[in-house]
Amino acid sequence: MTDQVVIADQGAVRVIRFNRPEKKNALTSPMYVAITAALREADDSQSIRCVVLTGTAGIFSAGADIGEFLESAQSGGLRPKTVEFLHALARTKKPLVAAVGGLAVGIGTTMLLHCDYVVAAAGATFATPFTRLGLVPEAASSLLGPRRMGHARAFALLVMGRPLSAAAAKEAGLVNEVVDAAAVEDTAMAAARDIAALPAGAVAQSRALLRGELDDVVQRIDTETMAFRERLQSDEARAAFTAFLSRRK
Ligand code: COA
Repeated sequence: MTDQVVIADQGAVRVIRFNRPEKKNALTSPMYVAITAALREADDSQSIRCVVLTGTAGIFSAGADIGEFLESAQSGGLRPKTVEFLHALARTKKPLVAAVGGLAVGIGTTMLLHCDYVVAAAGATFATPFTRLGLVPEAASSLLGPRRMGHARAFALLVMGRPLSAAAAKEAGLVNEVVDAAAVEDTAMAAARDIAALPAGAVAQSRALLRGELDDVVQRIDTETMAFRERLQSDEARAAFTAFLSRRK
């Protein structure tokens, strides 16, 4: 089990922390495996009533690990651990709260579309540079993004790669609360405890009603994954990954 994901249960709230700060919490296959297991365990638990996703000081996640992207591009690999994570995220039964303390890139932003309550630091930025990397949107963001924020805003974010500030993300309906960076985790925990204190059966049923039929979401994840795998092999993508990994600072 990797120590790059830290799981801690605080009463009825499970906290899943992305903990790879030296790489801006970029997510690797072992991390996806650990997060998927933690989500499934929470689903099966009687005592856990809410899950908080968080990162480390000043950074939520720089998205998928680009080194792994390049490996997948070279090996024709299928990123199965990411897909399993995305399915688990879409189907998770316990309410999901996110504490976004800073930058959220790629899947760091798109996973928020599956969360029920999002708290962001005032200085947080949300960015999905998929096309710049020669890729396409993932995590059902091509379906949930336009649904959540309308086509115009979703296009600017997901296709043009224009970042959203915390204030703009709140305006777009991606974020519930914007607070000082130092208060992000406490505010998210307070929301999680509020959710956990409600009658669990009523919350579960209400949440399922709000989220609606999930088959279309899971199907979209699979359709995007097929396109994403093709794009990973493209010259555009390989050039972008190599440029990122060999850049001078
Ligand atoms: N995959 C792999 N490594 C990553 C990464 C990612 N997605 N994001 C950051 N890192 C690594 C950097 O390569 C660097 O490693 P090094 O110290 O061994 O050189 C380390 O994390 C610190 O990142 P750095 O770029 O120096 O920090 P920064 O504060 O200048 O910039 C980001 C932070 C997130 C803006 C920048 O790293 C970035 O653009 N990352 C890529 C984001 C991305 O495109 N994600 C995929 C979306 S699909």
